[in-house]
Amino acid sequence: MIVATTIRAVRARRQELDRLGRRVALVPTMGALHEGHLSLVREAARRADEVWVSIFVNPTQFGPNEDFDRYPRQLERDRELLEAEGVALLFAPTTKEMYPKPPSVLLDVPQLTAGLCGAHRPGHFRGVALVVVKLFNILRPEVAVFGAKDYQQATVIKRLVEELDLPVEVVVAPTVREADGLAMSSRNAYLHGPDRQAAAILQAALRAAAAALVAGERRGQVLEGIVAAHVASEPAARLQYAAAVHPDTLEPLETVGDRVVLAVAAFVGGVRLIDNLVVEVP
Ligand code: PAF
Repeated sequence: MIVATTIRAVRARRQELDRLGRRVALVPTMGALHEGHLSLVREAARRADEVWVSIFVNPTQFGPNEDFDRYPRQLERDRELLEAEGVALLFAPTTKEMYPKPPSVLLDVPQLTAGLCGAHRPGHFRGVALVVVKLFNILRPEVAVFGAKDYQQATVIKRLVEELDLPVEVVVAPTVREADGLAMSSRNAYLHGPDRQAAAILQAALRAAAAALVAGERRGQVLEGIVAAHVASEPAARLQYAAAVHPDTLEPLETVGDRVVLAVAAFVGGVRLIDNLVVEVP
């Protein structure tokens, strides 16, 4: 596996692959890799000749009071995991390499980021949009694979690709879960003891709302109330939002049609967790 830390090195490798006509599938990450990331790597491997992974804890997507400084960093372990998966290239730039000066470009998709996580993490999706577009320009992958756990992020990226005519196919791969339903996330490393058990409430809450939906409940607010009530039943959890939104526009649904995204964010033992379920109404 090539480990590249500079834009120059990775561009040189990309030019070689262009000459050979080889296709690249990129998995952009912030490291602290877990089985969820590795499932994205495997999905990427099915779609191109080479899998490239980026590891960059992107400062522009963290708010001033968020966990940028303590975000788990374990590059050596990540490198070994990726090597074992047969990844061809790891791009692990420094902050200075990605942002030699403070960025002045703003990439904003306000229609998609006004609600859900965007309402609680001002500037977060601008940071994600900027770094992802930079990564696409630097690495020029034919395919890029993202996880469905970050539904709003994937929706924003798909819109950017569409409207900016970026020549990359965006693939969204299913969320990988622990045995109790907890969605895998690098931030799960912050959860200890009873908080780890309590964290399963997010998925249980979404499943309860999905069951009500299948049983005939179509009112968006009632479904949100079911999610909220479940989260409230867990003393270690504090709800940030519960939402029933349209899968494409991310707008709240008064009445659910044939598809809905049920989404939740909650703090468990001080750790902010998110999850979602896309439900097709029978
Ligand atoms: O989902 C993530 O890990 C990050 O938001 C991403 C897409 C790598 C951008 O920094």
